[in-house]
Amino acid sequence: MRRIVVKVWEFPVRLVHWTNFLAILVLCATGAYIHWPFLSTPTTAFPYVMGWMRLAHFVAGWALLAGLLVRLYWGLVGNRYARIGTFFPYLTRQGRKSFLGVLRYYALLSPRLPPHLGHNALALTVYSGIFAVMAFQVVSGFALLGQADPSGTTYLLTGWIFSFVSNGWVRFAHYAATFVMGAFLIAHVYAMWVSDLAERDGTSGSLFSGYKYGELEEFEDFGPRPR
Ligand code: HEM
Repeated sequence: MRRIVVKVWEFPVRLVHWTNFLAILVLCATGAYIHWPFLSTPTTAFPYVMGWMRLAHFVAGWALLAGLLVRLYWGLVGNRYARIGTFFPYLTRQGRKSFLGVLRYYALLSPRLPPHLGHNALALTVYSGIFAVMAFQVVSGFALLGQADPSGTTYLLTGWIFSFVSNGWVRFAHYAATFVMGAFLIAHVYAMWVSDLAERDGTSGSLFSGYKYGELEEFEDFGPRPR
């Protein structure tokens, strides 16, 4: 067997991964404070805490929006592991086979994950859902923000959401999605670690370096992107 090292994650993918990660951490922390402003009492020495928290929330919100737009663009022009199509593995026969293989692994029915260089099929499916949640947070967040100026551009672009659901429901969904992000973060780190230990393919370091490695004959997703 030939041992190979492959550049899997290009620079824009890694950059967006980490800026999204930081933005989401800030958004969850400041969002939690907006929901429960425990420091803002009538007698506090720092009455503007909420103002700073909201400012940080909105700046991180812009960062998340920028990250999603860059990733969307790279999903159109990047390498085969970055393409938008890979996030929907169940659309191809090979992808469905791989998906079942991952489920069998997690159900302890198979000793190994299907060998892959990119993300595994189950992870890709979850990521497409998480991208959808992030997109919802951006639209709902900017819609809530835009309400301060209903004649402004922000409201023009996102205020349509209130024709489907009331302000209360948008706000509740924006809050509830925070728990989805938190649960994802825990499962994501766990799965990354398991995969790294079981497969010894450099998963954990690959989002820093861009490289993964393993035995050439094994991978089902090596080489140029199929047309
Ligand atoms: C992962 C992404 C995000 C998370 C986890 C998150 C979390 C939260 C949470 C927990 C709240 C408090 C909800 C409540 O108590 O009703 C909140 C409020 C809010 N968020 Fe986000 N948020 C995210 C993205 C965004 C984005 C992209 C924007 C756009 C600028 C945004 C704008 C807002 C606004 C305007 C509020 C209401 C602030 C207020 O009423 O003072 N959020 N967010």
